[in-house]
Amino acid sequence: MNPLRHVAIIMDGNGRWGLKYKNSRNAGHKAGLKTVEKIIKETIKHKVKFLTLYAFSTENWRRPKKEINFLFSLLETFLTNRVDELHNQDIKLKIIGEKSFSEKLNNLLNNAEKKTFRNKKLQLNLALNYGSKFELINAFKKLKKNNKKINEKNLSLFLQTKNIPDPEILIRTGDTKRLSNFLLWQLAYSEIFFEKKLWPEFNEKDYTKIIKKFKNIKRNFGNI
Ligand code: FPP
Repeated sequence: MNPLRHVAIIMDGNGRWGLKYKNSRNAGHKAGLKTVEKIIKETIKHKVKFLTLYAFSTENWRRPKKEINFLFSLLETFLTNRVDELHNQDIKLKIIGEKSFSEKLNNLLNNAEKKTFRNKKLQLNLALNYGSKFELINAFKKLKKNNKKINEKNLSLFLQTKNIPDPEILIRTGDTKRLSNFLLWQLAYSEIFFEKKLWPEFNEKDYTKIIKKFKNIKRNFGNI
């Protein structure tokens, strides 16, 4: 059976779910947050050590201001109300992406990272204002600035995922088949699962099914 240390997820379909059932995209994001909580718990049950969730891409700034503000207020409420609970569950929170938000949100994020830094059960990486191309360009610039040889090992030391193993699994919900500038380097050998369900509909059973399927895949890494 394949070892599984890291699952990455593109949580797509909140807007469509919200419009379909509540006539509001934002209601979809609120429902999406409930799925986030379920999936965190299930990840721990499966003893997976790293979970990376794509919560806001560098391209998401193109959305209407009202939706962006709602997403960030949701995140602020989540951090204010839930960080103690994450901490008690031994979960380490790490932000990947550029932390250039309001002072209040930046402080909440920094404090949550600091508070949970030593936790061991699960590392929850939230990709916020994250774009993989930007991350890669920055990493190459840093290699050059530090006069380092360009190779895989050195490059990975300058990525935001430094010290995090590459995901064995990528899940994208919402019936769309693209990577949307997410972890392009780190996903080079990941098994990709595209899921028809919208993110608020995705549940523990769907997740477990994917994990079981993954464990039985023959992974060759270019070999035969
Ligand atoms: C993509 O669906 C989803 C997002 C851009 C936001 C994801 C946010 C959450 C799940 C909730 C907040 C999370 C935390 C951790 C506070 P979409 O809006 O692109 O859906 P669509 O394709 O149907 O429009």
